[in-house]
Amino acid sequence: MFEIRHVQPQDIFSVVKIAYESLPERYSPEVFNKFYELFSEGFLVAEKLHKIVGFIVGIKTSNGIARIPLLSVDKKFRKQGIGSALITQFLKEMSLQNIRQVELEVRINNDAAIKFYKKHGFDVIETVPRFYPTGEDACIMKRVLRSC
Ligand SMILES: CC(C)(COP(=O)(O)OP(=O)(O)OC[C@H]1O[C@@H](n2cnc3c(N)ncnc32)[C@H](O)[C@@H]1OP(=O)(O)O)[C@@H](O)C(=O)NCCC(=O)NCCS
Repeated sequence: MFEIRHVQPQDIFSVVKIAYESLPERYSPEVFNKFYELFSEGFLVAEKLHKIVGFIVGIKTSNGIARIPLLSVDKKFRKQGIGSALITQFLKEMSLQNIRQVELEVRINNDAAIKFYKKHGFDVIETVPRFYPTGEDACIMKRVLRSC
């Protein structure tokens, strides 16, 4: 079993490690500390047997809108429902924060993530050519939590 909870400062090292192993971009601990300072309600971790096995980072962008810049599950613990538990809890938190819409971008060839987000009620609203520094295109995805 695993538990979903708000991140604590002592979790940041484990979060950086998972990000390093599973995402193409490089993020320093300072970046995650900043996310924690800015909006800790949107930063959740999954813990299994005292080990951090996944995380989600959300930010508030403008009135009633949140974004998910980062979501990752340790490779060894994927396909066990941990990502689903993270995003489900995150969406509940966002509703409590009066967020009405959640947006994110994902690489157009990241089939697993696109399928994952669609399963959780997100729709592709736009594609942006050469969005990433690598020249890859992005899908912008959105989920409405409540109408205005
Ligand atoms: C996307 C990610 C977070 C999913 O985490 P997870 O814990 O494995 O997801 P779950 O076990 O909750 O899967 C839920 C659903 O997502 C979809 N899914 C997850 N992994 C998939 C894969 N490799 N291929 C196809 N669909 C997949 C399936 O619909 C799955 O439902 P199912 O198990 O009934 O088929 C994980 O693959 C990951 O960390 N990827 C690398 C980082 C990344 O791409 N992040 C998103 C962009 S920032």
